[in-house]
Amino acid sequence: MLKAPEGIAVGPMLLFQMFPGLQQKLPHVPLTVRPTPVQPLVELGRRLGREIWIKRDDLSTPEYGGNKPRKLEFLLARAKYEGREAVMTGGGIGSNHALATAWYGRKIGMRVILELCRQPVTDHVQTNLKLFHALEAEMVHLGGQASFLLRHALAWRLRRPEAFFIPPGGSCPLGAIGYVEAGLELARQIEAGEAPRPEAVFAAAGSGGTMAGLVLGLRLGGLDVPVRGVRVATPLAANSLSIFLLALRTLGLMRRLDKSVPYVRLRLFDFRIIGNQYGPGYGHPTDACRLAADAMNDAEGLCLDFTYTAKTMAALENHCAACAGRGPLMFLHTYSANGLADLAKDVDFRDLPRPFQRYFEPGA
Ligand SMILES: Cc1ncc(COP(=O)(O)O)c(C=O)c1O
Repeated sequence: MLKAPEGIAVGPMLLFQMFPGLQQKLPHVPLTVRPTPVQPLVELGRRLGREIWIKRDDLSTPEYGGNKPRKLEFLLARAKYEGREAVMTGGGIGSNHALATAWYGRKIGMRVILELCRQPVTDHVQTNLKLFHALEAEMVHLGGQASFLLRHALAWRLRRPEAFFIPPGGSCPLGAIGYVEAGLELARQIEAGEAPRPEAVFAAAGSGGTMAGLVLGLRLGGLDVPVRGVRVATPLAANSLSIFLLALRTLGLMRRLDKSVPYVRLRLFDFRIIGNQYGPGYGHPTDACRLAADAMNDAEGLCLDFTYTAKTMAALENHCAACAGRGPLMFLHTYSANGLADLAKDVDFRDLPRPFQRYFEPGA
């Protein structure tokens, strides 16, 4: 296990307590505070007529939190273990995953290469673009989503053989193991009475690693609670089958590394996706998600983002309206409570590589 970067105090990892063989085989750099708290959302619940709970992965680190550090704990450690000097990953121009990789990659002394594609320009997107530059990531523009998928996902080995490749969103078996830990945590918290057993857990489904790991972790933790993935990306990336297969591959990897990891039977049905909050496309705010973000802020003082968590909360609210008065619901908050926006303040967009400057022009 690598040392935690300075300033990050971490708790013990359930995964390694339950399956010590994994600790010997899996390189790991501790980045997250464990476990993240579970809390009731009393006022929001009162307004929705339901008991609503939240798992605070927005507080997963005191630095840049949300769902990405849990995955990067394993991915960056693997890159170091292989002796790579660079990591390469990609996503939209406002990708939180790209930002988390730039932040933590740099922190552990690795060069970070980001391949980025177009998405609707918002303040958040502009801030992240400036942050990539402030964190000295190498930024490469790969056009729209279709060209990105072809060139980034298929041709990376040819272009950058020296780099360790992290797939978009960090969603591969190794990254998803980070969310197995979150599922184990949640199962343990419910067993200990820190939160009630929910009727369902609502989580954003983008590249799918969060949902795949969470479902698997809950099962390994002995809790058979349904997870509802709220699709926020194209159905090509976020669908029941691809997430189910990712969960199976993740379990397969864990069992190869440690024979004591039990076989748990996962069914396609465990990976139910809600698709009606996506709107016109990835990163396009919808009216429902704006309302959900306002309601959360007003009732609980918590901030949701329009690409992932506000759409997820909109789906949870819809569920409350459609089936009133049933059991508690759990919302997995995956958007970092701490931004890095201060670092972007002094960046002039004209210092960014040329293809990215157009995103700051009027009408972009
Ligand atoms: C804030 C936030 N929530 C949820 C997700 C979705 O996670 P996943 O890509 O593992 O499905 C992302 C992905 O970037 C994210 O940034």
